[in-house]
Parts: sequence; structure tokens; C-alpha cells
Amino acid sequence: MKVTVIGTGYVGLVTGACLADVGNSVLCIDIDHAKVARLNAGEIPIHEPGLDEVVARNRAADRLQFSSDYDAAVAHSDIFFIAVGTPTDEDGSADVRHVEGAARELGRRLTRKALVVVKSTVPVGTHVLVAHAIEEELAHRGQSVKVAVASNPEFLKEGAAVADFMHPDRIVVGTEDPDAIATFTTLYAPFNRNHNRLIILDPHSSELAKYAANAMLATRISFMNELARLAEKLGADIEKVRDAIGADPRIGSSFLYAGAGYGGSCFPKDVRALLAMARENVVSARLLSAVHEVNEEQKHVLATKLRDALEGELRGRVIAVWGLAFKANTDDVREASSVVLIRDVVAAGATVRAYDPQARETARHALAEIERKVTICDTAAAACDGADALVVVTEWLEFRSPDFAALAARLRARVLVDGRNLYDPRAVAAAGLRYVGIGRSQAA
Ligand SMILES: NC(=O)c1ccc[n+]([C@@H]2O[C@H](COP(=O)([O-])OP(=O)(O)OC[C@H]3O[C@@H](n4cnc5c(N)ncnc54)[C@H](O)[C@@H]3O)[C@@H](O)[C@H]2O)c1
Repeated sequence: MKVTVIGTGYVGLVTGACLADVGNSVLCIDIDHAKVARLNAGEIPIHEPGLDEVVARNRAADRLQFSSDYDAAVAHSDIFFIAVGTPTDEDGSADVRHVEGAARELGRRLTRKALVVVKSTVPVGTHVLVAHAIEEELAHRGQSVKVAVASNPEFLKEGAAVADFMHPDRIVVGTEDPDAIATFTTLYAPFNRNHNRLIILDPHSSELAKYAANAMLATRISFMNELARLAEKLGADIEKVRDAIGADPRIGSSFLYAGAGYGGSCFPKDVRALLAMARENVVSARLLSAVHEVNEEQKHVLATKLRDALEGELRGRVIAVWGLAFKANTDDVREASSVVLIRDVVAAGATVRAYDPQARETARHALAEIERKVTICDTAAAACDGADALVVVTEWLEFRSPDFAALAARLRARVLVDGRNLYDPRAVAAAGLRYVGIGRSQAA
């Protein structure tokens, strides 16, 4: 099939590349000319495991192309995936201007029957807005063609996006149009071979399902972070509590990690957007508000723990930070806890030496306003040079088993704040370091 994908970010690029990989002819377009030029030069603008191979393979086979030209986009196919960003607006709601903009670009050009698929995470009812925008543009040109608008939210995880797209748990499609259902069934058949993953529902429910999934996962994280605070006061270890409750199949062990709060481009934004929807519809959302508030507070916990471990004073201290990406296997630092921590300690008078395997450039950009106080290092060891304490913020594989004795020799105040509870507190203490974890009072 021929497919056009609008937006070549984490979702659009992965969608386009994976659809091409199963034999479709895909044109990806983006208004960011620099990004398109990089893609056409064979560069991948984001770090996503396996993505470079898929893109290279399909470019070489001429199944995947990149452009900034909407005329070419409309000429290429009759199926359009909108995968542009939906950032948080001033009032917390999702800003759908880019989605509407893309829809209008299509409406200005369409001359044949088309299927427009909203893949971006959008407030419930956005499919109606998209349909109206397209109809308005068509009417403006006196054009009358049937355009179906469907919802197809994306559930991939950054860091495992290609694997998630190729082997989805579910493919959620919101449409009541029989032709659209037939198109999705054919398009997604290669991802459905041994088990039908397609869940077809009405577009409103489909749009809400995406927010519900992220809000549920965010809720589990905030729940554990709240319990972690209590565990510290009560002399319990949240990691042992996690093992005990996760063994219950009704609860399950995923997403029960206490830590430095959730970040990234989705959970914080989507919880805020769902709260905004509740507000607009005069529905009380106390649970969601609490999930959000707990998370906002949690992002400052690392700086507080660090200050406490350094005798109440961060001024003049040098803090090593391992991990800048909001999670492992990505270079994405959007709403990352590392950024909050670094801003906190710099505001308190410290300087930072930070290291991340992939997010050095994105972090440099995110921390530009305090760049004089933050040195981005090329290795984990270099980040500890001359540092008083080390804070581990992201669970990259290379941080999992450090040489604690070498760290003890390097860190002047011998403090290790384990923001992800990666380490055995006894092993850290045995090397002569002061261990500070999350929700692990007995060990601290
Ligand atoms: N990142 C994730 O893990 C993830 C997962 C599931 C869903 N989502 C959702 O998918 C959507 C996209 O997220 P992302 O992380 O890929 O965003 P992104 O910011 O990485 O990429 C968006 C791209 O869209 C382009 N764009 C904006 N307006 C455009 C237009 N009118 N025409 C063409 N291109 C345009 C931008 O230049 C940018 O390259 C969001 O709604 C997000 O919530 C993201």
C-alpha cells in the first residue's frame, strides 16, 4: 500500500519506517526542513534502538522517502497518518494546532477519496475537529471528496519503539467507517499474523483509551513514590514491598518502581491534558490531580536527599549526575527528572558534571540557560572527577554495576544517591560510600 506519514518525530519516523519494512511505499513529510535534510542524508535525528537499520534498509529499497512538500505528500497516497506533536498548552490542555495545521494542508490539496488517521495523542473529539478543518478547506475550493477521519493512537515506548511497533500488544483503531476498517485490517495484517491485535472501537473511546493507558501507568508510579515516602518514615524498604505486591497477578510487577518521578514527552503532558478534559467537562479528577502533584514533588526529591546527605549545604559542591535521558535507551530529555535535579542543585549554588550515553546533545540544549554551571562529560568516570557526590538518575545498563570502591576513592564526600534503586545498599556501604535510595530507610 502507499502511505503518507506527517511528522517525523519519535512516532512518525518509527511508524513510517516500520510500515515500509513490511512492504509499503511510505513518504514521510515534516515541516522541519533541517530534519528532512538530515534524514535524506541518511542521518537519524533521534536515538532509538534498531531504527537506523530499518530506515537504511527501506531507503535503499526505495520504499521510504522524506520530504517537506505537502503537494508530494498528497500525490503519493490516499492514506495519511498525522503524527505531529501535541504539546501542553498554557492551561494544561493538549495543543492540537499542529494536528489541525496538518489537516488543513491536506484539505487544501485533496482531490481524491482519502483516509486521514490521527496517530498523535489528542483530546477526545479531535477527530471531529480534524474532519471539520478538512471539510472547510475542501468547501473553500469547491471540492467534494469523501474523507474519512479515524483515530489510531500509538502505544510504542521510546527506547523500544521499533520492537513495540513491529510486535504490538494491541492496535487500537477508532472508526465506524467500513472502508476505513478494511484499510486498517489490510495495512496492519503483517503485525497481526499469529494473533489478532486489532481493537476497533468508536473514535471517542479510541482517543480516550490512549490517555487512560498513560494515566494508569503514571498512577502506578506516583502510588509507589508516595508509598516510598511512607516506607522511609516507617523503616520499610519499598523494593521489598514492590516484590511482595508485584507477585500478585491482579497487581503485576510492571511500573511499580519508586524513583525520581516520571518524565518524558508523554506521561506528564497526557496526565495534564486529561486533567484539562475533566476540568472542561466539570468532572472532578482528584485521583489524577494527586498523581500529577505527587510526581511534581517527586522530581525535587533527589536534590533534597542530596542536600541532606551533604550536611544541608549544596553551595560550592560539585555534583556528578549519571543519566540525563528521561529513561534508558533514548536521547529524549523532555520533562526529564535529571533536568529538574540539575536546575535545583545549580539554583542552590552547586555545579554539575553530568554524563549520559546518548542524551548529551539534547541535554546541552535543555540546560542551555545554566550551561556555565553544567559540564557535560564524555564518560561516566569523567563526570565523577572532582565531584563530592554522585546521583544516578537514569537506569542505563552501563550504570548497573559500577566499581563502588573506585567511586568511593573518587567522590570527595563519598555520597551516592541512587535515584532508581539500582544498587544493593549493603554493597555500596561496604565500599565506604554513603548510600541514599528512594523509600529505603533501613539502608540509608
Ligand atoms: N514519543 C512517544 O513516545 C510517543 C508515544 C505515543 C504517542 N506519542 C504522541 O505522538 C505525537 C508525536 O509525538 P513525537 O514524540 O513523535 O513528537 P516529536 O516532537 O518528536 O515530532 C513531531 C514532528 O512533527 C513535525 N510537525 C509539526 N507540525 C507539522 C506539520 N504541520 N506538518 C508536518 N510536520 C509537522 C515536527 O517538526 C516534528 O518533527 C504526540 O501527540 C505524542 O503525544 C508519542
